[in-house]
Amino acid sequence: MGQIKVLDENMINMIAAGEVIERPASVVKELLENSIDAGATRITVSIEDGGRKLISVADNGCGMDAEDLARAFEPHTTSKIKNSADLHRISTLGFRGEALASIGSVSQVRAVSRAKDSLTANCIEIDCGNKGPVSPCSGDYGTTIEIRDLFYKLPARRKFLKTANTETGHITEVFIRIALANAALDMTLLSNGREIYRLSGKDGLGRRIADLFSTELSQDLIETESEEKGLHILSLIGGSHTSRTNNKFQYVFLNGRFIHDKFISHAIKEAYRGIIEPDRFPVVFLFIKLPYEDYDVNVHPTKIEVRFFNSNLIHSQILGVLRQKLLGTNIETPVKLPAKDSDHTTIAGRGNQNITDAMAEFFKRHRPAHSQQQISFPSSSSGTEHRTFHEKHTPYTIYNTQYDKKFLQIHDNYIVAQTEDGFIIVDQHALHERIMYENLRRRMAAGSLESQKLLIPESFEITDTQAETIENNSELIEKLGIELAAFGPKTMAIQSFPSMLSKVSPIDFVGDLIDLLENKELSIDAQRLLDEILNMAACKAAIKAGQKLNDREIEQLLADGKTVECAGRCPHGRPTTIKFSMSELEKQFKRT
Ligand SMILES: Nc1ncnc2c1ncn2[C@@H]1O[C@H](COP(=O)(O)OP(=O)(O)OP(=O)(O)O)[C@@H](O)[C@H]1O
Ligand SMILES: [Mg+2]
Repeated sequence: MGQIKVLDENMINMIAAGEVIERPASVVKELLENSIDAGATRITVSIEDGGRKLISVADNGCGMDAEDLARAFEPHTTSKIKNSADLHRISTLGFRGEALASIGSVSQVRAVSRAKDSLTANCIEIDCGNKGPVSPCSGDYGTTIEIRDLFYKLPARRKFLKTANTETGHITEVFIRIALANAALDMTLLSNGREIYRLSGKDGLGRRIADLFSTELSQDLIETESEEKGLHILSLIGGSHTSRTNNKFQYVFLNGRFIHDKFISHAIKEAYRGIIEPDRFPVVFLFIKLPYEDYDVNVHPTKIEVRFFNSNLIHSQILGVLRQKLLGTNIETPVKLPAKDSDHTTIAGRGNQNITDAMAEFFKRHRPAHSQQQISFPSSSSGTEHRTFHEKHTPYTIYNTQYDKKFLQIHDNYIVAQTEDGFIIVDQHALHERIMYENLRRRMAAGSLESQKLLIPESFEITDTQAETIENNSELIEKLGIELAAFGPKTMAIQSFPSMLSKVSPIDFVGDLIDLLENKELSIDAQRLLDEILNMAACKAAIKAGQKLNDREIEQLLADGKTVECAGRCPHGRPTTIKFSMSELEKQFKRT
């Protein structure tokens, strides 16, 4: 007796729905994508109870006539592809012809649609796969689809839905992705009748990002655009101070489709290496345009992943464009002081606690006893007044540099320097580390580091494995300007050492270098390895925290900082410089 039965159509659709429709947000995504494919310029999304009770999407797109409306909810029906050749150049967001059928099989649907040239609208209702007739009704041009009680006949699936807040959060995220990819569209999102977003399509991408996130974030983004090898890249990328603890703020769009792609994520991560801390994620909006023939979108039911035919090209282009822009931009860390009524000033931002303390102490100590409310930081045009103030009221000396900037070292650790529109605090070790790193990198790129013979060779003992490591990396060691020679059965001597590292102990450095070479990951490429070595060298050679500097050294440090790329960050991605603007200070001292 045969056990195998053919499933009926409704069962097939319900099973298919399991792949595409996971939660209310999946319905919103499918409906929004359909509206965009229909050429809509205005879309309104309205949800109730996190989309569990109601999801409604209304557009002013091309609409459907009565025949199409009846067909749209049948499985495997689409107007978007006609033959297998079309499958290789998909230009629409949808193409599988199953979203509406899936949605209709797991909810109550009411769809009203009016085609552009039609005198009336038509309406259809579907209750978990049971389709009613199409009948004429009143309605505007375009399509409105209402979904009620998602999964109401599938208690097991409904049970998996989270709270209304969580589901609203997922829907909002879907809305944000579509809104970013379609900045020219008027879009509205309402939840329980309350407006969450009302976006105008006239204001451009910058304003859209501001509306969806914040004006502050939008203003902090650096824009870059490139077109090479058939690949168009528009990116708006955040500096280090906007970085996050997860990659939620990385929005990648391929021809208007939001995608997740591990090659692209990797390229972004690499582009920010040394610019942000390794455990942080940058804010990135990346809009890629590529010929439809150059990738396959038919690899994932929700189309969130694609397969690039030349993923290396995508990786290297994105990495190149972002890296170049980031290295060419000096990203400083502005400090925003919270406007507080209390006496205690704190500086918002991660990792600034010690600076906060130092600054608080500094200000406390140097408040002039006779007029506490009148501390001012005049602009450079009134330098004399400023100098007089400090001469009178601080035990510290304020030095004038050739640039007519004023600075001082505090706690043998930080340099405070006046700038045109406020002042900066520089972490002396971090900035010098970046300077050393950039100089080392430049020299290495030009060939090798210049070396200097040691007057007395320094010897050290080695194990057989270490000897092998040295042997295997002899070329690299030589390029670094280090000359080693055997000095006995298990002993080697350092004969020459790079002159740029004259302040570093050769024995310590070579010991650490051998350690690093011995423990390198197998997968590490030569460039990364060299980078790590230069990082190490820069760290060892840099001015230390706690080191007292004279005014000439400070002047040199600040001047050198102006000549290197990426001076705002140390090679590990930590800030070297924190900027305080006059306007923030004025706000704090209630001068505005
Ligand atoms: N808002 C809309 N306006 C006009 N036509 C629509 C709209 N929504 C759906 N349609 C029509 O209904 C068809 C079926 O939609 P459905 O979403 O099920 O499939 P699809 O978009 O073609 O592919 P996919 O399953 O990948 O989304 C579409 O091909 C389109 O012709
Ligand atoms: Mg669709």
